[in-house]
Amino acid sequence: MKLTHLTPVWAWQLSLLLLPLSAAAQTQRPLFPANQEATTKPNIIFILTDDQDLHLQSLDYLPLIKRRLVDQGTLYTHHYCTTALCCPSRVSLWTGKQAHNTNVTDVAPPHGGYPKFVSQGLNSAYLPVWLQEAGYDTYYTGKLFNAHTVDNYLSPRPAGFNGSDFLLDPFTYSYLNSTFQRNNEEPVSYEGQHSMDVLTSKALGFLDDAAKGDRPFFLGIAPVAPHSNVEIPSFGSTSNSSGVHDAVFSAPIPAKRHEHLFPDAKVPRTENFNPESPSGANWVRDLPRQTRENVDYNDHFYRQRLRTLQSVDELVDDIFRHLESYGLLSNTYIFYTSDNGYHIGQHRLQPGKECGFEEDINIPLIIRGPGVPSNTTASIVTTHIDLAPTLLQLAGSPLRADFDGEAIPLTAEGLEEASEYRHEHVTVEYWGFAAFEGEYYPDGGRILGNNTYKAVRVVGSGYSFYYAVWCNNEHELYDLTTDPQQLKNLLHPDEVAPATLLGVPFEKAVSRLDALLFVLKSCKGQTCVRPWHALHPAGNVQNLHDALAARYDDFYLKEQKKVSYDRCEMGYIVDAEGPQFEGVGLVYRHGTRWSDWV
Ligand SMILES: *[C@@H]1O[C@H](CO)[C@@H](O)[C@H](O)[C@H]1NC(C)=O
Ligand SMILES: *[C@@H]1O[C@H](CO)[C@@H](O)[C@H](O)[C@H]1NC(C)=O
Ligand SMILES: *[C@@H]1O[C@H](CO)[C@@H](O)[C@H](O)[C@H]1NC(C)=O
Ligand SMILES: *[C@@H]1O[C@H](CO)[C@@H](O)[C@H](O)[C@H]1NC(C)=O
Ligand SMILES: *[C@@H]1O[C@H](CO)[C@@H](O)[C@H](O)[C@H]1NC(C)=O
Ligand SMILES: *[C@@H]1O[C@H](CO)[C@@H](O)[C@H](O)[C@H]1NC(C)=O
Repeated sequence: MKLTHLTPVWAWQLSLLLLPLSAAAQTQRPLFPANQEATTKPNIIFILTDDQDLHLQSLDYLPLIKRRLVDQGTLYTHHYCTTALCCPSRVSLWTGKQAHNTNVTDVAPPHGGYPKFVSQGLNSAYLPVWLQEAGYDTYYTGKLFNAHTVDNYLSPRPAGFNGSDFLLDPFTYSYLNSTFQRNNEEPVSYEGQHSMDVLTSKALGFLDDAAKGDRPFFLGIAPVAPHSNVEIPSFGSTSNSSGVHDAVFSAPIPAKRHEHLFPDAKVPRTENFNPESPSGANWVRDLPRQTRENVDYNDHFYRQRLRTLQSVDELVDDIFRHLESYGLLSNTYIFYTSDNGYHIGQHRLQPGKECGFEEDINIPLIIRGPGVPSNTTASIVTTHIDLAPTLLQLAGSPLRADFDGEAIPLTAEGLEEASEYRHEHVTVEYWGFAAFEGEYYPDGGRILGNNTYKAVRVVGSGYSFYYAVWCNNEHELYDLTTDPQQLKNLLHPDEVAPATLLGVPFEKAVSRLDALLFVLKSCKGQTCVRPWHALHPAGNVQNLHDALAARYDDFYLKEQKKVSYDRCEMGYIVDAEGPQFEGVGLVYRHGTRWSDWV
């Protein structure tokens, strides 16, 4: 791109226009195998588990998923959710937008849940609707969103599905007393049956319906496993109509046939498991070390998760048997992922999610389908925000300009090209509470407020960082190359920061990460995908490494506004979130040399 004759502002605007096109042009060709040009669009099956980890080794206990998906497909090892909480994460996944652009940031009103999804206008602007427009028959069973309840399931009905059978609150997480609601029918209680068995028969039923149709299909299957069992006694009371914050959590409940499995399994005793010294920042750093009884209980909790996941393993195998019997396997993509990850005992945390640690945000993504390399791991950075664009591209539809992510390459050639141009960051954000889901929790209760933070995870060539700013303005930085367990927060007053990072003085490296986060914390559309481009419109900075050049020191150290909060809020209240990205005002515009603009 020759932009040398343009003023910086023009260059910025023009390159914002040009870049997405050129990136799309690069990805389009290798993303799909040649036979996708054919008239038959592929079918898509999307399996979305609830709270499944990558880091606690759950995949090691799932032999059928290994045989059907991992061995025959690609495991994306650097796949991330962007908000580690069910409802915000699912809304981001199905809309292709960061939570700060959906403003569905919680599991229940006022800041989240199904009613907020509807009031934000998203019920007509999410994937199932777009897939129907692309000519797909669409089916879904299991959990869609939180606070989608026995009271509000028709106000309105979730749009975009030819067939749906949803788990509804307050029974969504009640393994032995689930309630499902089919199409426009009344909710039905399945008291006494295991939720996963009910779900499996519904999923196979929809697959049979879909296979009979003459159009391509999308089938979403969202099991509750391995989420905690949750009972919500206060549901429906006038003051807390969703009751979510009074929920009673306990270990997940497996099907009878799996109860006895893995009697000796324990949470992996990694270095960050119940460590001797506190780690992290804010409330995490105040957690007491867990007692022996607490650890034993958490190991039991862990085994119950592995046991409930056995039902998911069987579900996946059943789906493949049916696909084979219908002869559909060769034209079907199967996606397998989770809404967010999970921690048990790492950093002394009780069972739960809602944190920015790898255990919570780096989650399984396995894709199998025509042209997808088999028995392969891919290490490019991908996020949940990239999945809606990926599925829409598979369906042959144009991508939407307001997507905050970009399609994930699915072929060997596409993966190789992606290592050249693909973004290296994940925008992580969180508002509101953290919950302790096991039997052990502090006197103050299971729910803790002020768990509000913005963070960026960067995985580039030769570096790997997590940088966060909390709503109380505490900072967090881990160098995962030397500290993969995230035990040493280099920005905590009790730690000794290194003199240099990536060969430059420590503060200089931090100033770049802060500026990156400053752009990402309120980014929209392509700026979320190419944040460095907003700072350096001439296009000569593509990644953290490029940004470290000494000629940008003043720009980053002296001119940039820093990420900070004015106060803690439970939702996305902009005026609590410090200075905001103002586009052009932030651009690096001090280059006088030719080399600054090419
Ligand atoms: C997958 O690859 C590994 C080596 O990379 C090999 O040992 C294994 O047999 C392969 N599995 C299958 C099912 O092809
Ligand atoms: C997000 O929603 C909350 C209510 O839940 C509202 O107060 C806030 O202004 C909204 N934020 C934005 C940026 O629209
Ligand atoms: C699925 O829904 C779409 C949109 O309403 C409709 O055009 C299509 O005919 C439906 N498919 C079937 C099999 O009913
Ligand atoms: C199971 O759920 C139904 C409502 O769907 C409820 O009436 C019943 O009391 C529940 N049973 C138990 C044991 O909680
Ligand atoms: C509503 O929620 C609050 C906060 O969790 C709790 O203190 C209160 O007891 C609940 N009220 C009812 C009627 O359940
Ligand atoms: C959050 O922190 C503020 C101080 O910033 C404190 O006043 C408030 O009580 C805290 N809220 C909760 C729910 O912990």
